[in-house]
Amino acid sequence: MRKPIIAGNWKMNNTIAEAQKLIGELKPLVADAAAEVVICVPYTAIQKAAELTAGSNIAVGAENVAWADKGAFTGEISAAMLKEVGATYVIIGHSERRQMFGETDETVRARTAQALKNGLKPIVCVGELLSERESGKTEEVVRRQTEGAFAGLTAADMENVVIAYEPVWAIGTGKTATAEQANETIAYIRSVVKNMFGAQVANALRIQYGGSMNPANATALMAQPDIDGGLIGGASLKAEDFAKVVKY
Ligand code: PGA
Repeated sequence: MRKPIIAGNWKMNNTIAEAQKLIGELKPLVADAAAEVVICVPYTAIQKAAELTAGSNIAVGAENVAWADKGAFTGEISAAMLKEVGATYVIIGHSERRQMFGETDETVRARTAQALKNGLKPIVCVGELLSERESGKTEEVVRRQTEGAFAGLTAADMENVVIAYEPVWAIGTGKTATAEQANETIAYIRSVVKNMFGAQVANALRIQYGGSMNPANATALMAQPDIDGGLIGGASLKAEDFAKVVKY
């Protein structure tokens, strides 16, 4: 019922030239994929990526978006700017933004609302730190982040939202949550969305797992009933690896 969605998060990797090479390798490998395929790329590579993937089954996304339309926000980028160069998705509230760049539940909420208002589809990241998991606070943390991100939205807005559950301790560490752990927390996040927006919205919402997802563990993760896709960092930088995850 929910179409799986596998998204690459390139982070601060790949110049335009490097992007061109990677997309050239990737396109034929994923052309027959059953899952929806997205690559979220650095701002400078969006336009080229959109050109190169036009007419293909690969959508292009950004890695952040400002909460305001325009104005005095040095270093930020607007939804209109992203749309103009061909982005259709945008990652919001990635743990690296929360940890290193002061992103809060409130800025995540404001950016998400702005993306939706402008027709960009947000991939909203939530997830607990290792210390939070070890002290039994995983559910409390993901509930606070989920309620914070989607406060004030409508059921219709939620049709265009994707959530990525990324336990922070599993990102870039090679430590994956077990498929059961990931599914358990994702099912909990779905229950939080159900409380906010009702069963229909919760059942239709796609929730990805992210954190060291790779060709070796994708099959087991995707076999879980509540896991609807992946947000892939490291393994999205190699065409063959990313294609294997896409075709889990
Ligand atoms: P990783 O990153 O796959 O390299 O762990 C995932 C992410 O940060 O989105």
